[in-house]
Amino acid sequence: MTAVVSAAPGDGSSILPGLREIDDVGRDATRGGYSRHLWGDAELSLRQWFVSRAEALGLDVETDRNANIWAWWGTPGQDAVVTGSHLDSVPGGGAFDGPLGVVSALDAVAALQALGVKPARPFAVVVFAEEEGSRFGVACLGSRLMTGKTSGDAARALVDSDGVSLASAGNRAGFDVTHLGRDQAALDRIGLFIELHVEQGRGLIDLGEPVAVATSILAHGRWRMRFSGQGNHAGATLMTGRRDPVVAASRAILGVQDIALGVERAGEVARATIGRSHWNPGGTNVIASTADVWLDARAGSDAGTRALVAAITEASQEAATREGCTVSIVEESWSGEVQFDVALRSRLSGALGGVPALPSGAGHDAGVLAGDVPTAMLFVRNPTGISHAPEEWASAADCAAGVEALTSILRSLLVEGAAAAPGPGGAPGRLAAPGPGGV
Ligand code: GLV
Ligand code: MN
Ligand code: MN
Repeated sequence: MTAVVSAAPGDGSSILPGLREIDDVGRDATRGGYSRHLWGDAELSLRQWFVSRAEALGLDVETDRNANIWAWWGTPGQDAVVTGSHLDSVPGGGAFDGPLGVVSALDAVAALQALGVKPARPFAVVVFAEEEGSRFGVACLGSRLMTGKTSGDAARALVDSDGVSLASAGNRAGFDVTHLGRDQAALDRIGLFIELHVEQGRGLIDLGEPVAVATSILAHGRWRMRFSGQGNHAGATLMTGRRDPVVAASRAILGVQDIALGVERAGEVARATIGRSHWNPGGTNVIASTADVWLDARAGSDAGTRALVAAITEASQEAATREGCTVSIVEESWSGEVQFDVALRSRLSGALGGVPALPSGAGHDAGVLAGDVPTAMLFVRNPTGISHAPEEWASAADCAAGVEALTSILRSLLVEGAAAAPGPGGAPGRLAAPGPGGV
């Protein structure tokens, strides 16, 4: 077995055993990395793996009406401490985005059990479904459904790139899709949610620290832009007078880059990406009739993101007109700017002896839940600074520091007075002496 997670850039050390256990699941031989999409073989086998890992720890597992999996330590109930992340990936993604948070949560439970902790309030590990939106296009679908940000009807109608609706994909996977939608009972049980995640940028590299607490998430969304022209013969059609939507889309893509770069050069935050396209019908000797491109746009505020998309819309309409085409733009998802709960953030920072705070350019289920319950995030250093690609990485020592930090926080939240009690390492709330680099 060639282990992706143990073949680290510049790091021969072994990785968290849980990540090693799923190292072979969903490898993508074509793209590299992993492709683990909702209800595909790999994702279903990860679900099974999670259930058996959780049950081995004595947790009671249930799948909610939105395909999110909950593993309860003790009796489920209100005011629960909840931690977890997701197991699905982007196409050709890294090993850590999502699974690190799930494995760390399970490892933290094992560590708490070994310490003899008896939770004084309900506690659960959660795995959210379709966080990346890689199959059905809407990011954080499981948490959006739970919070009612996406309706059950809208979700059932989503279609994957093979034309399979979410409703039929769910049915094929043996999941009852009839109850998708806001889950007040599940929400009412969450007292707070903490998501540990691999960092997806370079913040912790620059700070020389293994772990940080998140402050905020950029406002972001996804838009499908469909350029329509005239399908025709590649050899028989003169170059003049063509209405080629691929050319219109290409001009628009260059506009996306120029506009976002312009905003960034003016000192504002702006990110705009076209990472996915589909030419219809898609023949080498065929001028396409439609060209779809998907825009991912993000900025520091809701208004900034809306302004960015408005500028891109205008430029795309000009590009379409110039090529004799039309363009329609449909918003597929929207997530407003998130500021994480200040009290919970400072509780985490305090319990961890003042770790740095970092903003997130990436979206997370913790961001979706932030409108309903107090949420916070812990980031673990990614020494490559690369994510959503096979090069995403976290060293064994930093993963261990992340588990230690999560364990310490959970202990302080689950056991009355533990936040102030010295841990075995001597420092308040610490479980043990810090790993290399400290926490
Ligand atoms: C998820 O990782 C996103 O930010 O798109
Ligand atoms: Mn991701
Ligand atoms: Mn993620």
